[in-house]
Amino acid sequence: MYTELIPYIERWLRHFKIDDQAGFESVYKAADLNKPELEKVYQEFFNRMKDNYPFHLPEYAGQMLKPPHPYAWLAYSLTMMLNPNNHALDGGPATSEMEKEVIDKIGEMFGYKKPFLGHLTGGGTVANLEALWVAGKSHPGKPVLFSEAAHYTHKRMCEVLGLPYKVIRETEEGMMDVEHLKSEIEGAGTVVVTMGTTGRGVTEPLAQIVSVCKKHGVRIHLDAAYGGFFKLVEGRLHYDNLSWAFTNLADSIVVDPHKHGLQPYGCGAVLFKDPEVGSFYKHDSPYTYFSSDELHLGEITLECSRPGASAAALWFTLNLIPLDENGLGSMLKSSLNASMALYRALKNSDHFFPVSKPHLDIVCFAPNLSSMSEISEASKTIFRNGMEGEKPLYLSLFRMKSETFTKLFPKIEADQDEVTLLRSVLMKPTHEAFIPEMINRLNKLFLTIRG
Ligand SMILES: Cc1ncc(COP(=O)(O)O)c(C=O)c1O
Repeated sequence: MYTELIPYIERWLRHFKIDDQAGFESVYKAADLNKPELEKVYQEFFNRMKDNYPFHLPEYAGQMLKPPHPYAWLAYSLTMMLNPNNHALDGGPATSEMEKEVIDKIGEMFGYKKPFLGHLTGGGTVANLEALWVAGKSHPGKPVLFSEAAHYTHKRMCEVLGLPYKVIRETEEGMMDVEHLKSEIEGAGTVVVTMGTTGRGVTEPLAQIVSVCKKHGVRIHLDAAYGGFFKLVEGRLHYDNLSWAFTNLADSIVVDPHKHGLQPYGCGAVLFKDPEVGSFYKHDSPYTYFSSDELHLGEITLECSRPGASAAALWFTLNLIPLDENGLGSMLKSSLNASMALYRALKNSDHFFPVSKPHLDIVCFAPNLSSMSEISEASKTIFRNGMEGEKPLYLSLFRMKSETFTKLFPKIEADQDEVTLLRSVLMKPTHEAFIPEMINRLNKLFLTIRG
């Protein structure tokens, strides 16, 4: 599949006179590629890169990882040869326009109406940092509220920004406890709602949170870094389809194209419903913004240099795999099918049980044992042993407070403060067909330690 893209690369090299065979000398002289050490260094690089997990295969179901789509790979690699910088139109005129177009598409996906503001970022962390920075600027001195299930970045970024914050309890389902939120909302500035928590892939109850926030004039920030693109399959989700209907009411939204948007790392996005927040970014730069009176993205971002290649890759991908149910949505449906198939199989298993019904495509589960210490020990052994042998299975682990676990499974002995569980992220389109084999491998792993 990748080799079929070579004609596109050749055409690009000829057109942009990148290759010295086109009659020009390349920026880096051709002789550099004839260095005898090249083969040696490549060999070492090749050997060292073997020390990796097979993120591209279905048997890797551990963390939120998968290679970018070949379309993204093609556009990114080609653009990288020119290396435009989306900080200003001076440095990346074409790719800045592409960035504005993809931001329009993403905003429209969430139900935002133009004019709204947004840009790509290096990832979800920086995107959330910007959203929290705007939260602090628009409601100075008022605390940011987020649940225990929120990504750790929110607490950390509030500390970086010097913003007050409060942590709202999570329920045993792994989402914000709305009753606790109600008791803490008075005087708050912004509530962070996670659509797809990192640990359990849970969507927090936005529908209920919106009504609480609106009543108190509190802003809403959606951290949809992981789950945001599931908006495309709204109505077909396993859980709480209603909440997804309210995404347009959020004041800001973060989504990571480098998670479920088929992009390589270095591609997050932040969007603001009210374009007026652009005034917080106002700054003077004596070096840039000369080539055009149009908006330079650097005027509305905290990062300066940013890869035009990220915008190009996302633009190219979304023009071939659109943001609709049959485009990117079809891949997300497949991930939903995979998580439901795994959940059902675990429910019928003698060796494992699911911790809860998956909301998206992350499934947490436990070996079927009678105490938290036994479950934790077995989970860790299965996690380690899974990575060995001819038919490996790459999973991840998740730590849960014993208090939460006991509410779900009161009969399991709570002999420690927290329990370590198994976790799988089924974000590749190949996962759906792999579930029966995944169960086989899981059963074998269980029997090797408890056979
Ligand atoms: C919900 C959520 N928010 C934020 C982040 C941080 O994003 P990034 O790793 O792209 O910086 C993650 C990463 O897993 C996430 O799941």
